[in-house]
Amino acid sequence: MFNIENFDIKLNTEYIGRNFIYTEEINSTNTFLLAKENGQNINGTVMLAEKQTEGKGRKGRNWQSAPEVNLLFSILLTNDKSLFKNANLINFAASLAVSMSVENLYQLKTDLKWPNDVLINGKKISGILIEAVSQSGKIERLVLGIGINVNQNSFQGSFNYLPTSLRNELGKMVEREKLLADILNNLEVLLERLKNDKNNLIEDWKQKCRMLGNRITITDNEIEKSGIFYDIDEDGFLLLQMKDEIEKIHFGDVSLY
Ligand code: BTN
Repeated sequence: MFNIENFDIKLNTEYIGRNFIYTEEINSTNTFLLAKENGQNINGTVMLAEKQTEGKGRKGRNWQSAPEVNLLFSILLTNDKSLFKNANLINFAASLAVSMSVENLYQLKTDLKWPNDVLINGKKISGILIEAVSQSGKIERLVLGIGINVNQNSFQGSFNYLPTSLRNELGKMVEREKLLADILNNLEVLLERLKNDKNNLIEDWKQKCRMLGNRITITDNEIEKSGIFYDIDEDGFLLLQMKDEIEKIHFGDVSLY
């Protein structure tokens, strides 16, 4: 069971996680926080669930997780115009926050995969799903959902990318409370950096993306494109070099060619 007191002691933030909702079971932490009707409106509210019955992944996939051993959480962000201007880059701040915590706390080397996966030894430990509600073209509330395989030791089912967990990579159990607090601490700092110096944040992200410069294939809805992973632009889009032209890629799953 997740110990909220232990988590709280390690939380160093001003607003992220200060309003904390813990639940045993929910359809999806993203779905819950996104719905205004649920009465949660405080900027930085974090919801953590031990089990999701309809955990969502990117591109309509589902997110599978064993109950009570991993981290399944979402962060509600509201009313932050300067952050929402760069909404596309929030997943970069989030994947970097996860990667920094994993590397600093457990000395494991992570690799970031565009747009927002965190890998260890080529396997996925974390996925991120951002959803937003807009009105008149403006984002009103944004939910940043993060799933991390922490202490799960076996994975059944079909996966788009082979999963692993911190426990499997480290050979021992990990304290979820400390990890979550550390990620939220990093995230708050990185979101500030995103507002003030987004290029610097993108540079840090690129340092941890080993696919950059390699020949890759991008798949989106059965359409495949191959080329050199040339760069990430200032909006977080992937620049793919194909023959004489560079194409800007907005969505897709990247794999090494
Ligand atoms: C992906 O890699 O496809 C993104 C996975 C995101 C999963 C997290 S778990 C907490 C939050 N609630 C959800 O329903 N999804 C996200």
